Amino acid sequence: MTRHDAVEVIIAKRDGAELTDSQIDWVIDAYTRGDVADEQMSALAMAILLNGMNRREISRWTAAMIASGERMDFSTLSRPTADKHSTGGVGDKITLPLAPLVAACGVAVPQLSGRGLGHTGGTLDKLESVPGWRAALTNAEMMSQLESVGAVICAAGDGLARADKKLYALRDVTGTVEAIPLIASSIMSKKIAEGTGSLVLDVKVGTGAFMKSVDLARELASTMVELGTDAGVHTVALLTDMSTPLGLTAGNAIEVEESVEVLAGGGPADVVELTLALAREMLAGAGVTGVDPAAALADGSAMDAWNDMIRAQGGDPAAPMAVARESQVVTAPASGTLTRLDAMAVGLAAWRLGAGRARQGDAVQAGAGVRWHARPGDRVTAGAPLFTLLTDEPDRFERALDSLEGGYDIVADDSTGPAPYSPAPLLIDRIS
Ligand code: URA
Repeated sequence: MTRHDAVEVIIAKRDGAELTDSQIDWVIDAYTRGDVADEQMSALAMAILLNGMNRREISRWTAAMIASGERMDFSTLSRPTADKHSTGGVGDKITLPLAPLVAACGVAVPQLSGRGLGHTGGTLDKLESVPGWRAALTNAEMMSQLESVGAVICAAGDGLARADKKLYALRDVTGTVEAIPLIASSIMSKKIAEGTGSLVLDVKVGTGAFMKSVDLARELASTMVELGTDAGVHTVALLTDMSTPLGLTAGNAIEVEESVEVLAGGGPADVVELTLALAREMLAGAGVTGVDPAAALADGSAMDAWNDMIRAQGGDPAAPMAVARESQVVTAPASGTLTRLDAMAVGLAAWRLGAGRARQGDAVQAGAGVRWHARPGDRVTAGAPLFTLLTDEPDRFERALDSLEGGYDIVADDSTGPAPYSPAPLLIDRIS
């Protein structure tokens, strides 16, 4: 590999030049080995955030990140594989019902998930609220569970896309998370290295998402779809709303409970709609036709796959879930129609109650979180419960209440009747 000078690479990007393939290969490799220092990589990440990268640079950057670690291979499994990745949102528990549902329809789901940081929750944190469940599996355990149960949700091993592990942690503390080339290459390097045959991306748009506008979300989605397609992974992206939180809960144990309701054939309509839309895309991407995932929710086969998946990772699906020691109810200040419920406000409240962590490595509370008792479009009555806040530490209530302040609108009826309300669509666009 040709050796370069880190300062020369930083200056090139700072001055708006395109990085060469050789510069990209070297800088990712040298950073992974510790020859490029954190302060140099953070300067380069900031230059990329400010000046962008073209399609060739993003593709080469992604390839170099994949080459920094191991690659997994599921091609020996007896069924096709499909994975889903969400760019992160509030109340986004979709992976929990989705993975067993798709497995019940005949497609294996190797779902490598993460922990929450900031206001968005992490799938592993949610599942760890199931007594006994463990997130760490060896590659051999993962393969055997994919063959027997068909669904695995576990932590990514240290070997996968090693450059991304370092770079993501660095971006998190240097204000460089929100760069489309860096987000796209971070997500896609892990998904391509993981070796899934097909991939469905759920790109969130709105106040509770990284991407606040549809145009930015579309740019991120098409960049990732191109990266996946070029690497031979059948990739489709759905743009979905994250101005309103999903379902009726944000937290850990309470989101698992809501997911189990969906697997039992019930649950909030938006969670069911998104779970089914993603399941249909995953089945189509894996080449499975003529199977209706709604039937697998109705006939209990998705629930059977959930129970098997939890048990295979040491969990007891029948054990009682953690309950927060303290709760506080927030009542509606007026009667009328709830016309807005802000995802960021709810996400911050759940985080401040202890459902999320402030720093990597902090512990989260299994029982903490927020339940909301109405969704936009619902009628509310003054004095009736609007939110229930849950935590083990009552001194957390005050800051959670602060974050809900201004986070919702209730519009009173006028002489013509209830305030007009037109729901924003959950599914905004599809990019393939
Ligand atoms: N998720 C990732 O894995 N990487 C990013 O950069 C953003 C979200």
